[in-house]
Amino acid sequence: MISAALPPPRLQLRCTECAAAQSERDAAVFCETCGGLLAFELDSSAGFDVARYRDVLAERRRSNDVIDRSGVWRFRELLPAIAPSDVVSLREGDVPLYEARRGAVYANANRVRYMHLGMNPTASFKDFGMTVAMSHARARGARLAVCASTGNTSASMAAYAARAGMTAVVLVPDAGISEAKLAQTLDYGARVLAIGGDFDAALEIVRTLDARRFAIVNSVNPLRIEGQKTTALLLLESSGWHVPDWVVLPGGNLGNSSAIGKGFREAHALGLIDRIPRLAVVQAAGAAPFVRAFESGEPLQPVHAQTTATAIKIGAPASWRKSLGEVRASNGTVLAVPDETIADARAVIGIDGIGCEPASAASLAGLRVLVERGVIAANDDVVLMLTGHMLKDTAYAAAYHAGTAPFANAIAHVANADDARRHLDSLVQEAC
Ligand code: F0G
Repeated sequence: MISAALPPPRLQLRCTECAAAQSERDAAVFCETCGGLLAFELDSSAGFDVARYRDVLAERRRSNDVIDRSGVWRFRELLPAIAPSDVVSLREGDVPLYEARRGAVYANANRVRYMHLGMNPTASFKDFGMTVAMSHARARGARLAVCASTGNTSASMAAYAARAGMTAVVLVPDAGISEAKLAQTLDYGARVLAIGGDFDAALEIVRTLDARRFAIVNSVNPLRIEGQKTTALLLLESSGWHVPDWVVLPGGNLGNSSAIGKGFREAHALGLIDRIPRLAVVQAAGAAPFVRAFESGEPLQPVHAQTTATAIKIGAPASWRKSLGEVRASNGTVLAVPDETIADARAVIGIDGIGCEPASAASLAGLRVLVERGVIAANDDVVLMLTGHMLKDTAYAAAYHAGTAPFANAIAHVANADDARRHLDSLVQEAC
């Protein structure tokens, strides 16, 4: 453990619409006055010892203490205060950065890395935020956690609720979520309400619930955003505080882009970095209401979402205003890519030996388009956020490989040992 505590910057919970201050202890998710989304504002005016903080972080990486080793709680001075005894952690957050070799070739870019958020305990980026939201819920004595989900939030919430000794209830669309995500959610002991509607309809139901009776842990909960902002801090810390030119990530309900943008902005305000990277948010073409809002400057018009990247099949993203603020603050951009491009990009990430679920590959698909359009230069330093693990949606991968050359030839059915040897001989010849 670190000898002397660092003085934390102050965080004040406020409404993002009417700016009314809110008490963190009420655990409200929406503003009591106007119903707007809440956010923690960081007061960076007190001065912050950057060199010391970097040393503290490096020291914590060598510690065996659970909260030091978590890639979220290592940054606890920048999070809402929660007693260590209330922290519910599964060692989330410390995810790897990989050089993108074939991905870079595919996108015609030279300096591309994947930050694999799917290498988290429940195999998606949700664990970054869930550890904070569920720790807060446990600290205030909540017994029941609830969320609407396209599958990843539900799996993450279910795992952390199990660790916290709480009951988890998830609302999911009764069709179209991946079997693996549902199986995970059930395995961790959650109760599942499968609704005859999509994610947007499920979130509408959750919005009507009383946050004093249920811990609502969708990304409308500002504690989720605080946890997920550490993705930005972790990226910077893992890169020796070097700032990439671009961070490209998929957008669905738009919590993650809001959170990551906030993380970079705060790191800048504290003096940890001297500029912020530009954000590119990528949506699936059939679920792209944010693209229209970004381009028109008009309020977001919900759409009926349609995409095979089921994680981002969202037509009325709750955090669009927050995300738009972050994209604009970073001089970033928003774009849409067709499902077929997402599918090809996902397969390319696979043959880089990394793999991810469909929604995550929107990042590489988006990069390719942005390089084509000249928005991102071939030599820009780019980080692609891979938001979920490949094993989250194996049915999608199997269907792709069955129907797409050269993968369709990857499985040969062999009759006997001689037949197998013949195949191996020809493969040896191919490889030489
Ligand atoms: N990628 C994956 C793998 C996701 O699961 C999600 C969202 C996103 C990207 C989009 O992130 O909503 O913060 O813009 N999944 C949510 C869920 C909606 O319920 O699991 P966002």
